[in-house]
Amino acid sequence: MTTDKLIRAAQTAMQNAYAPYSRFSVGAAVQTDKGNIYSGCNVENAAYPIGQCAEASAISAMISAGERTISAVAVAGIGQALCTPCGGCRQRIREFAAEDTPILVCDESSLRHETTIGDLLPLSFGPDNL
Ligand code: THU
Repeated sequence: MTTDKLIRAAQTAMQNAYAPYSRFSVGAAVQTDKGNIYSGCNVENAAYPIGQCAEASAISAMISAGERTISAVAVAGIGQALCTPCGGCRQRIREFAAEDTPILVCDESSLRHETTIGDLLPLSFGPDNL
């Protein structure tokens, strides 16, 4: 099942997170309209503010491969609280996704919650505004 594959890609990327400062590992995977999956993890830095979120890494991989349209996203994070995309990453996803695009919120082993980018970022400002 494609959803399972997407979730597994996010969980696998999470294992490679570079998060020595927060110790909070995150993985993300985006599926495109062409059916391909691109994943990434958070990459922290000793200069804290330039650390990169997992979603940004996954989107960067997608753009680098020449793709532009996200059809689903999975985010996998550790801990009890749901690891939903941060505010900045909601906007990053919105750039390449329609409002009804599913966001699968996962932990190391399972899907915890399913929502959409429109629910996470209502009344968003996006490419159509410009
Ligand atoms: N983080 C992500 O990778 N994605 C999010 O949407 C939330 C936060 C990362 C950034 C930082 O490396 C760590 O989680 C703690 O904030």
